[in-house]
Amino acid sequence: MRRITLAVAALMATSACTTMAEHPAGPAIVAPILTTPDARDSSTYARPEEARVTHLALDLALDFAARRVGGTADLTVLARPDIRSVVLDSDGLQIARITDAGGNELPFTLGAAAGEKGAPLTVALPAEGTPAADGQRFHRLRIQYTAPASASALQWLTPEQTAGKQHPFLFSQGQAILNRSWIPTQDSPGIRQTWEARITAPAPLDVVMSGISQGAPENLGHGRRAFRFRMDQPVAPYLIAIAAGDIDFRAIGRRTGVWAEPAMLDRAHYEVADTERMVEAAERLYGPYRWGRYDMIVLPPAFPYGGMENPVMTFLTPTFIAGDRSLTGLVAHELAHSWSGNLVTNAVWGDSWLNEGVTSYFESRISEEIYGEKRAVQEALLSMTEIDNALAEVGANAPGTALHQPDGVESAGSGIIYDKGAAFLRTLEHGVGRQRFDAWLRQWFDKHAFQPATSRMIYEDMRANLVRSPAEAEQLMIRQWIYEPGLPANVYRPDASAFAAVDNAAHAYAATRSLDAAAWAGWSSAERQRFLQRLPAGLAAADLARLDETLGLSRSGNNEELFLWLNTALKNRYEPAVPQAERFLGSVGRTKFVRPLFATLMGQGAWGQVIARRIYARTRPSYHAVTQSAVDRIVRPAG
Ligand code: BES
Ligand code: ZN
Repeated sequence: MRRITLAVAALMATSACTTMAEHPAGPAIVAPILTTPDARDSSTYARPEEARVTHLALDLALDFAARRVGGTADLTVLARPDIRSVVLDSDGLQIARITDAGGNELPFTLGAAAGEKGAPLTVALPAEGTPAADGQRFHRLRIQYTAPASASALQWLTPEQTAGKQHPFLFSQGQAILNRSWIPTQDSPGIRQTWEARITAPAPLDVVMSGISQGAPENLGHGRRAFRFRMDQPVAPYLIAIAAGDIDFRAIGRRTGVWAEPAMLDRAHYEVADTERMVEAAERLYGPYRWGRYDMIVLPPAFPYGGMENPVMTFLTPTFIAGDRSLTGLVAHELAHSWSGNLVTNAVWGDSWLNEGVTSYFESRISEEIYGEKRAVQEALLSMTEIDNALAEVGANAPGTALHQPDGVESAGSGIIYDKGAAFLRTLEHGVGRQRFDAWLRQWFDKHAFQPATSRMIYEDMRANLVRSPAEAEQLMIRQWIYEPGLPANVYRPDASAFAAVDNAAHAYAATRSLDAAAWAGWSSAERQRFLQRLPAGLAAADLARLDETLGLSRSGNNEELFLWLNTALKNRYEPAVPQAERFLGSVGRTKFVRPLFATLMGQGAWGQVIARRIYARTRPSYHAVTQSAVDRIVRPAG
């Protein structure tokens, strides 16, 4: 594997100031980029081998009334001496002017927009520049811009969409290619950048970002405050994130804590109380946590994902709060991304199994450490069902069921990227033994820390550092796992006896409709989910009424269980579930729940389609752009 470092430049240390004139020529760390064909990112306009952003300094004001973010972005660009312009990504940014460090105008052009990829923003580089390694030059440019209310990364919540109901809220979601809608930079996971930010917001709102907070906010008068952040490790730009709202913080351990709205903080803090121990367990498994703090923010329920691994500030949906820490695999997952994803990052989105599959495996190992083997095995079994479902849906020969996804191939979804990815590593672990596997995975993280990676690289690394012979690589079917569709024959399947009791109960229910409320009450959440997934098709209204009555499903405080109940009920056109579903869809924006419920309704003929269209007409404005575009593809107007 040939990897070119454009320049690992040892330059002056960065300073904390954000004025361009005082800012040194370049950041201390310039991360290498990959230039092999398998690392070419088709979702960026950037040409990093010519000119690349190495550092970003934002100075932005949050305007809640107009739902706009505006200000300046100072970019440090490292360019070849023969290159006269730099290409950035922009999706809908309104560019007022671009200048060099001396305030001189720099010409720029905004090309034609192509869907969510946005448009290329090509900026002339200042003539001079500061010499860097390999004859390259550092250039500085300042972009004055506004991200409009339509910026797809940002969701501006009304007070009604928060727990407190008094103040508005803002959060961003960058992955995969949404950050170009509020930050003018090269938005590609293989182009790592250090960054700093100064953000102003109206009191009493607090601002958090995916960087280390630089002390207490500064009072600016007129009811505004300024917050400062720095990320001194080079990160993929999709990992820059912001949230602002009426939020408070509570510590968990020495380097862990949680932010949430005051009304949510007690429940949030209780749910994530295992986090410090999770960090310790993760470090024992695969090496030091390299980011300093690990904090989390529990967002309002409109957040479109379960969680997002924004460095030093994981973003979480409140829907994982069950009151019993039964859904905290989510926290283990986002924490694990601090290694798989944030340290070692997929260079292209077609290799996102390197982020999500490796993380899902790592998550399971953390769960085993914190909650024991039984819970970990049960969660792994639920994950196996997801693979089986994905393969059943698109067929085991569908190209989208390979881990590595070439451009233009439609992915079969998370059952492949997450679950088949995790099953691959679990198969390797059982093939070579845990000790050898763990030593290999740890060296993979260490060797590629703060760098991008591809399927080809992990494939070659497995052949070089995991197996003892080419024959062993063959026997483990490593190439098939990464590059071929379907599920290789050597897949390690966790022992299903971990679900023996619940599987027996599901059989009994299917055969005789027998229900055991006492057994249900004693089950783990994974067991309850297994049972609900195994309910027979074609349940009558009376069956559903008795299920709900006996097991209290529609009153469940566990959203994974509530979702499975609603989905089953709607599949059986159970009228009493419609208002329940409507309430759920009106408050929760998590795509994983929202999309399947609408899909189920749309699959129920005119009965469900009328309901889906009615509900969606009302709830669509409350969803993030990610959820909207997912549901737009499902809920289509009649005719
Ligand atoms: N990084 C993902 C979320 C994501 C994936 C955002 C793809 C945009 C594009 C995050 O780590 C994740 O996987 N979240 C899951 C958590 C679950 C697997 C525990 C989710 O949101 O449900
Ligand atoms: Zn993930």
